[in-house]
Amino acid sequence: LPPAAFRAVGARRVLVLGDGLLTGTVRAEVEQACARHGGALEQDATGSPGLVLALSTAAPLAAPSAAPSVAAAAREVLAGQGGSAIGEEGYLLARRDGVTVVLADDPAGLLYGLFHVVRLGEEAFTGERPAEPHRPAARRRMLDHWDNIDVHPVMGQVERGYSGGSIFWQDGGPRGDLARVRAYARLLAATGVNAITVNNVNVHATEAHLLTDRLGDVAAIADEVRPYGIRVHLSVTFASPMRLGGLPTADPLDERVREWWARTTEHVYATIPDFGGYVVKADSEGQPGPFAYGRSHADGANTLADALAPFGGVVHWRAFVYNHRQDWRDRSTDRARAAHDHFAPLDGRFRDNAILQVKHGPMDFQTREPVSPVIAAMPSTRLAVELQVTQEYTGQQRHVCYLAPMWKEMLGFGPWGRDTDGSGDGSGRTVADVAAGESGDGGGLVAVSNVGDDFYWTGHPLAQANLYAFGRLAWDPRLEPAAVLDEWIDLTFAPAAGGDPGPLRRTLHAMMDGSWRTYERYTAPLGVGFMVRPGHHYGPDVDGYEYTPWGTYHFADRDGVGVDRTRASGTGFTGQYPQPWSDVYESLGTCPDELLLFFHHVPYGHVLHDGTTVIQHIYDTHFAGVEEAAESRRLWERAEPGDPALHARVMELLDEQLRCAEEWRDQINAYFFRKSGVPDARGRHIP
Ligand code: GCU
Repeated sequence: LPPAAFRAVGARRVLVLGDGLLTGTVRAEVEQACARHGGALEQDATGSPGLVLALSTAAPLAAPSAAPSVAAAAREVLAGQGGSAIGEEGYLLARRDGVTVVLADDPAGLLYGLFHVVRLGEEAFTGERPAEPHRPAARRRMLDHWDNIDVHPVMGQVERGYSGGSIFWQDGGPRGDLARVRAYARLLAATGVNAITVNNVNVHATEAHLLTDRLGDVAAIADEVRPYGIRVHLSVTFASPMRLGGLPTADPLDERVREWWARTTEHVYATIPDFGGYVVKADSEGQPGPFAYGRSHADGANTLADALAPFGGVVHWRAFVYNHRQDWRDRSTDRARAAHDHFAPLDGRFRDNAILQVKHGPMDFQTREPVSPVIAAMPSTRLAVELQVTQEYTGQQRHVCYLAPMWKEMLGFGPWGRDTDGSGDGSGRTVADVAAGESGDGGGLVAVSNVGDDFYWTGHPLAQANLYAFGRLAWDPRLEPAAVLDEWIDLTFAPAAGGDPGPLRRTLHAMMDGSWRTYERYTAPLGVGFMVRPGHHYGPDVDGYEYTPWGTYHFADRDGVGVDRTRASGTGFTGQYPQPWSDVYESLGTCPDELLLFFHHVPYGHVLHDGTTVIQHIYDTHFAGVEEAAESRRLWERAEPGDPALHARVMELLDEQLRCAEEWRDQINAYFFRKSGVPDARGRHIP
């Protein structure tokens, strides 16, 4: 948030009414903005404020003497809502008689209201505005940091991090100066995020101790982020009772184990009273879990949930559980099925404060996946949907890949009925509805953060847009990605340009809006996924995972490519979806082209809905994708962001993106030409 983004607010006389820590934050923000832009923070209601930010409970609400009608109108709207229910974190925005009013029931709502006014800029101070309510779709909007305290020999400090080191941890402990953490909290609050997890889901030896003897380090972070309405969560290892408590077992039904979790959790809350809860990756990629004791994941999650319940905490229990030691020769095991196979039968068996955290797709954050069928299968469980802002499989913050269009497609996916037996009548819910739950009490949205200690926060300066868009969509999944993109561009670049980003906005919009589809075009085709270099996952390697234990195969041979996941002849994965999707994906006639190879194994000559053959589609999209990357680069070459260092950094990255896109194009095209023997119909060069 460049200071100039606060110009419209800071140029006004502003009255803030209410108490509490976050109201104090609002006051401090306003004061800072006014000091810079010539406005004033009013001390009482006797002046003539241009902006009033007030708690609905604040006594002097009726007082802003210059605008009694605004206060009256605000109260009317409040009353019309059935009492005082603006709702937790929500706010009402109205403008009457030259005064802009933000009303909230709690201080967090005031803070979000302030940031909304900042986003609107001068527009918030123009004309009249009937009272509009704003409420977050889901109560919890969380970023998970995959940060380690120590630098892991293979994964580095931040697992799948592409923005330098951790912003929390350094040299084996917390950073001495947490000013950046405070600034980060502010940044997150401005997007709508209200929770963070401060360590990796793969909990290594040092990090396990954050739960007990190193809890003070977590408390220090919590202190920094609290004024911005952000609660801290912790990734813990399921084996904590053994590793930290010296018990001989971590069996979740063993009394000693339950007792250990209860006692340990009590201590956590004595230290951090507003602690959010635990995040657990269990029985997944080598992490310990309840299977070792013949217990279910509900047993595991509930033991932690019970320990957290007295304090209002939640456990985020991840559904990313699959066999990562599969025999590649075995065609019957399908990794895509795993989460549903493990978890769907447990629906209704999780405690109210246990949230099942489900990756949005059945595999692993690929560029294109169908929605995870788990999301439709557990109506009696609180589900959080997990996205990956860090671009592990989408260009690792070296490629421009604006992910909001993918998230929006996914969040809007549905509808399905409440039942998984196919009886949904089409009026059912979308993914976003499931995450939000009835009246916001669902598991919400969670994403793996893309932030590190890099100067631009996100490595690629343009990857900031993904962080911003995640927060905005978590608050309101109905927002349009293109509009969110423009918001980000304007907030980031416009103020420096005197309010009019002009050609720069057009350039960035053109480079970014369709960049996910561009990335998709030059990488793995038609939803088949992976084809990346094993280990670090950057750049092409078509057969890199083909004969490995990871369960990520494409099965290309001389005749065709794709994974048969049908009920008729494949792994039966399509059967995990409710109708109509179960049949839509099952049939070649209705399966969407972009997911064709996820669900079907087809010959290269198979004709897509657009009339192109699969092989020709592969060639065409790979040539086109590289062309689009080259065009982005050309656009940026001429752009003037008013900052030579920024221009140079993005230029360098676009050079790398283009190089890598060409490598993808050539490897994929050459691979499929050699397998199929079918030449490009347009005779372009394939090496
Ligand atoms: C991916 C990623 C891992 C991560 C895992 C997870 O597999 O490559 O680094 O630990 O997802 O989400 O747990």
